[in-house]
Amino acid sequence: MNRKYRNTIIAANLKMNMLPSNIKAYAEALKPAASAYGKRCGIVVCPSFVLVPQAVKAFRDSRVSVGAQNVSQFESGAYTGEVSAPQLADLGVRYVIIGHSERREMFGETDETVNQKVHAALAANLRPIVCVGETLAQREMGITSEVITLQVKSALAGVPATKVRRVVIAYEPVWAIGTGLAATDTEAAAVCREIRTLVRGLYGARIARAVSILYGGSMNEQNTRGLLAQPDIDGGLIGSASLSPETLSAIIEIASHDYV
Ligand code: 13P
Repeated sequence: MNRKYRNTIIAANLKMNMLPSNIKAYAEALKPAASAYGKRCGIVVCPSFVLVPQAVKAFRDSRVSVGAQNVSQFESGAYTGEVSAPQLADLGVRYVIIGHSERREMFGETDETVNQKVHAALAANLRPIVCVGETLAQREMGITSEVITLQVKSALAGVPATKVRRVVIAYEPVWAIGTGLAATDTEAAAVCREIRTLVRGLYGARIARAVSILYGGSMNEQNTRGLLAQPDIDGGLIGSASLSPETLSAIIEIASHDYV
């Protein structure tokens, strides 16, 4: 982290978990940590679409922003089953996760659709949390840098300098997601540093140092401190550990301290 130049963000990706009737209790349990530490750490909770209206209501007047886990690349029209960025923005959603590896692997998302969704989100004033990350096979082949470069550059293609500060990039190595096997601090730091260098090459030093880059993949209470002590890791995108509001609160507390 480097609080002088950019925000620390802890974002919860609840994935396809939790029932609409449970979100209020979850929000109540998270609010004490949000009011204690939310000034030093941006907090985002991303539930499934059907929970979003209740989540917005439950977190109203708190320091927690609500995010979605996906968005359509189209603005409106005949796209059965899709949810548009203006619809989310109108509900009070502030962030949207785009290009999660689960969507890339199982739901046909490509670098091109990720780029279109980034544009759609920005046009509706939503902040995209763009996920990038290599698979285990790609890491073992030694092509992590190439994969990350392709994913970051194509996600940001055509995004003007005036808007790119609103984009959050999440480095989520696919092999670390849901496995309990997080990247080491050094592994995660190296890729996050590369991502910042890429952004610097595209937009210059001032913008690169203002972009928040998160780590995701088996992040928990135990490894948060070490990860956030890395200068280019500005927060976390938390899956399993975020399902417990107590654990998420503990992570938020850890993220509110200074490590560098
Ligand atoms: P886990 O924290 O469960 O590994 O999931 C990470 C993730 O995919 C967040 O988007």
